[in-house]
Amino acid sequence: MSGRKRALSRESPESVASAAEKRRMMASHAADSLDDMDAAAPVFRDKPVSFVRRSGRMSEAQDRAWAELSPFYLLPVERAAAATSVRAGTAVDLEQVYGRRGRLVVEIGSGQGHQIVSAAAADPDTDFLAVEVFTAGLARTMLDADREGVKNLRLVEANAPEALEHLLPAASVDELWVFFPDPWHKNKHTKRRLVAPDFARIAALALRPGGTLRLATDWQDYADQMRDVLDDAPGFERAFAGEWADRFEGRVLTAFERKGLRVGRDIRDLTYTRVSP
Ligand SMILES: C[S@@+](CC[C@H](N)C(=O)[O-])C[C@H]1O[C@@H](n2cnc3c(N)ncnc32)[C@H](O)[C@@H]1O
Repeated sequence: MSGRKRALSRESPESVASAAEKRRMMASHAADSLDDMDAAAPVFRDKPVSFVRRSGRMSEAQDRAWAELSPFYLLPVERAAAATSVRAGTAVDLEQVYGRRGRLVVEIGSGQGHQIVSAAAADPDTDFLAVEVFTAGLARTMLDADREGVKNLRLVEANAPEALEHLLPAASVDELWVFFPDPWHKNKHTKRRLVAPDFARIAALALRPGGTLRLATDWQDYADQMRDVLDDAPGFERAFAGEWADRFEGRVLTAFERKGLRVGRDIRDLTYTRVSP
């Protein structure tokens, strides 16, 4: 396979892969078998994406949540070719979405939604948006949000860079959170990491001047990459003194952080301010 072909992202309009491939992806999560899968799937994007979409079997409760709760929580998205894409020129009207225009906090890769549901419940005056591609995680987020009576939260099932670039109006976001993004720790996969120069460009477009970008990871090499990328990004300035930021006090302890701590990794927080270049 040529180098260019290998670098392209593959995702079918309906799903990522066959049932057998999905089972294999579930088993490896971070796609040890990614190269095999790449060879089989069609090409829909010219950039690698930072996820391998896990279909995950939905429980009955999750299926019900999807049917009953998605009309309120899940924003409709106009797609381009891939299932998780966002068509250019389809920005939402935030006032219409939330019924007001408040502070907006966006979490990318919200997983099961523990962080964003807890934050939204604690701060009803702020609007929250979760961007995730993991369907079962989105269902779980809706169930928890509904149980907590959270009304100031919406969800988007989409590739986050496309959601930031095409779904959100420019300079509309007050805080952007990226907590424990997939580390893609193998050398041959680091090109899939979300926090890379093009992400910094897109994040700078979405954040308002003076807005805040918060990140956390338990993977030292990725923490170093995040800091290098954002130190070099024209639209961002460090909002911490010293090597790393203090732990964001608004961050709940998720399974990913707990696992990192359990195996003795340092948890790195980073905070940047959106500035005019
Ligand atoms: C390692 S998990 C961390 C989840 C959560 N932040 C936590 O700390 O529990 C990373 C999550 O990011 C999601 N993700 C990865 N790349 C994404 C992308 N480009 N757009 C949306 N979600 C993405 C994955 O599906 C996964 O649920």
